[in-house]
Amino acid sequence: MPKVHIIVGKEEHSLEVGEGDNLLFEAVSRSVMIPFNCTSGRCGTCRVRVVEGAEHLSEMGDREELRLGDEQVEKGYRLACQSFVFGDVTVEVPQPRLY
Ligand code: FES
Repeated sequence: MPKVHIIVGKEEHSLEVGEGDNLLFEAVSRSVMIPFNCTSGRCGTCRVRVVEGAEHLSEMGDREELRLGDEQVEKGYRLACQSFVFGDVTVEVPQPRLY
């Protein structure tokens, strides 16, 4: 099963997920708070930076690419709500919020 490491500020969370599971849904359903709003790739709130394992995420769709823009795509950002996990990956939440 794929392992997802999520860095939120000084905390690091490790989750085991099923192949093809949605990154945002798996994180939030286990109380790892990646900020989100629309869950449809429109708002950009759920962006995360992929530190390792980008090749283990689903391909970036047009909507996601458009929302992030070239600069963030080049820096390794993805929208968690549009990312499905197919292998080990490490992501960082850039602006952690406290809930
Ligand atoms: S929650 Fe809006 S783009 Fe992911």
